[in-house]
Amino acid sequence: MTYCSTPGKVILFGEHAVLYGEPSIAVAINRRFYCDITESKRDRTTVNGYPLARRYHSYIVECLNKLEVEDELEIKTETELDSGTGMGSSAAITVAILGALRKLLGEDISEEIIAKDAFSVEFDVQGNASPIDTSTSTHGSAIMVSEKKEKNFLWDVEKEGRRWNIHHRDVPDLTLVVGNTGVHSPTPPLVKKVRKFYERSNFAKEVIRDIGEIVRESCVLFEEEDLEGLGELMDKNHRLLSILGVSHPKLEKLIKGARKYSYGAKLTGAGGGGSMIALTDRPDKVADVIKKKGGEPYVLDSTDKGLSYHGGKEI
Ligand code: MEV
Repeated sequence: MTYCSTPGKVILFGEHAVLYGEPSIAVAINRRFYCDITESKRDRTTVNGYPLARRYHSYIVECLNKLEVEDELEIKTETELDSGTGMGSSAAITVAILGALRKLLGEDISEEIIAKDAFSVEFDVQGNASPIDTSTSTHGSAIMVSEKKEKNFLWDVEKEGRRWNIHHRDVPDLTLVVGNTGVHSPTPPLVKKVRKFYERSNFAKEVIRDIGEIVRESCVLFEEEDLEGLGELMDKNHRLLSILGVSHPKLEKLIKGARKYSYGAKLTGAGGGGSMIALTDRPDKVADVIKKKGGEPYVLDSTDKGLSYHGGKEI
């Protein structure tokens, strides 16, 4: 039996811009995905007792294909990451399943190998994607993805002629509140919408570059542990994302409410609905406002703990 877990993540800066060569920073959070995998005594692979089906388990099917697993397995999962909340549930599932499978098969379980495979699976399932979610879920702490190689370089990832350098970033302990709008908003159409705007407009290209500049500025503020400065940058980053057309009236409502008790707030992930995030030292107040405005709050802390193997504990 292999039992392992992976953290979710939230993108602090640089979503969308990361698909155009700009940097992005995400932080691992203290909500996790857990799985254990054993060889099955039955003649088929099951997930939580149900037969494996691409329709319900697309990421798991792709992980099994990636590692060319033919044995029948019993896969059990548990999650603290609701899907569609911007907390990286699909990346966490992918990293944990690949990590558990590799361990069960006696293969290399280094972070780099697992993160690269996980990105490739996410790319195959989702289409256009950056490696920010899967790298953060594997490594924990915070990850900066950028075109340029910088200090604390971990590994690089290449896909379809693009290269991303993955870096470890130290961040101070952060208290964050995610507010889910409840508006379902799949990533691929939003990525396409921004791409269209980008290809047609020099103004959109400038906005993307400005987001990149914000990410670079944030690196200095993380080192200085300047939460007020980081909050201001979050507000700025959100304005630019709104200009790109990926905000939503419900996001605006939650962000406006949360800002009263926060250093800063912005949408997180692809936008168009989904979730916002606030950096705060008054998480209960922010959570209350989010609830009052019709959102679902999640109070989170950052964590250093990435993919972890746990001996003997069954789900
Ligand atoms: C989605 O979580 C973030 C995007 O930048 C896409 C990606 O980086 O894969 C919109």
